[in-house]
Amino acid sequence: MSKEISHILDTVLERVRPTLDEREKVRMIIEKITRVAKEVSSEFGIHFEARVLGSIAKDTWISGDKDIDFFILFPKKIPVQELKEQGLMIAKKIAEKMHGTYKEKYAEHPYIEAHISGYTIDIVPAYLIKYGERPITATDRTTLHTIYINNKLSSEQKDQVRILKQFMKGIEVYGAEIKVGGFSGYLCELLIAFYGSFLDVLKASRFWRPWRTVIDIEEYYDTRDYRRILKKFASPLVVIDPVDKNRNVAAAVSIKSFSIFKFASKRFLAFPSLKFFFPPEERPLSRAEYLSKIAKRGTCILGLRLQITPISPDILWGQIFRTLKSLKKFLERRGFRVISEGAWSDEESEVIFLVEVDKEKLIPLEKHMGPPVGSEEEDNFIRKYLENTRVLSGPVIENRRWYVYRLRERVEVEEIIRSHINEISFGKDLSKHISSLTFGKNEEVFDFSLKNSYRKYLRKWLDKKYSWMT
Ligand code: CTP
Ligand code: MG
Repeated sequence: MSKEISHILDTVLERVRPTLDEREKVRMIIEKITRVAKEVSSEFGIHFEARVLGSIAKDTWISGDKDIDFFILFPKKIPVQELKEQGLMIAKKIAEKMHGTYKEKYAEHPYIEAHISGYTIDIVPAYLIKYGERPITATDRTTLHTIYINNKLSSEQKDQVRILKQFMKGIEVYGAEIKVGGFSGYLCELLIAFYGSFLDVLKASRFWRPWRTVIDIEEYYDTRDYRRILKKFASPLVVIDPVDKNRNVAAAVSIKSFSIFKFASKRFLAFPSLKFFFPPEERPLSRAEYLSKIAKRGTCILGLRLQITPISPDILWGQIFRTLKSLKKFLERRGFRVISEGAWSDEESEVIFLVEVDKEKLIPLEKHMGPPVGSEEEDNFIRKYLENTRVLSGPVIENRRWYVYRLRERVEVEEIIRSHINEISFGKDLSKHISSLTFGKNEEVFDFSLKNSYRKYLRKWLDKKYSWMT
């Protein structure tokens, strides 16, 4: 390892390793919540085990993180419905007794997100399963993940996990959420388990080929079966879960995150810098900067704004990405060239879709293709267009088809979208708010939201530059 890299990694580690003070705070809150959980258990005469899991239990959490994964584990004999109902009820009781605020959230099944003395505590009901037993719900695996990682990683390697997680955060590929489509904490842990250290993961990623890479730590599969495995999981990166050989831990990793990680790794090894881990804080774009940037481009920036009510971020971003795809397809079908698209949301009250197109208006003339000569529809086509005031040329035969050159009904991009809005699929929840839809173009788009986070996004969306490359 070069002196430079080793110095950088030391600096990173100093910042990501929790301080004794922090650990003590976490320890106290865990002690308290565990005690409260026991009280609730005996009060209601319901038997369950209360346990902290996730990165706190694995000691792979990053300094400054204020998230605790607290699990209430029920015996396998109780039915799923009961687990959900009782689990939620118990979780609420625990949050109340801790004098916290809380809200119900959904992953595979509902859980409680409680806010207690500055910490976000997910109180998650799951089944208590033993090593080797099949999970019943997706969250049941978490117990096994915690055991596996604690058996597998040394405390030095856990620090390597912290460095890797921070690297992923810095280059913005950390997290299995839909919005990110990146590497989960557990995946980072498995990569360290497999390759040994942070630098070894980075070096190895050079040889990863998308849709061709299988990491099977426990060797559940014969290497001759890898083709089949790749087909089965159909994912750029396949990492077999050591506690469940039918699950790909890297299922969330998109081809974009995969590629960014590969390149950032290579770049870091060649030009090591702290920037990869701690990129400079993005400045919100000012109006003057925005105007000068778009003026140079000569394109049309189109904004669509929706007012929303909160839903689960994964559901929200799923619908946002699908809407963007549909919007892009629609515009291209209508004769615009879509140069770039993106979306921002505060995940609370607003979503803004941004599309950069090559022009604001189509030309008035449209060349419209008709049926083949001699076909059944031919007569209808000719009848429809022969005496039509909107037709400027034709009907005329070109090769074996009829064509007319007609005037478009609408040429302006906003009008075209408005009048065909139902051809764009906004997704179930976004559709409910379609009446709040507002449009803006170019300079108007800047004022679509006053939030700093939006203005930071605008800069990122226009600049499209990785801060760790400069
Ligand atoms: N988990 C999982 N797959 C996911 C998300 C979570 O298997 N896509 C499980 C993992 O066992 C993980 C636990 O749920 O350890 C808690 O999730 P999370 O808090 O997201 O991960 P941590 O490992 O705690 O990492 P960190 O909180 O540091 O990001
Ligand atoms: Mg966690």
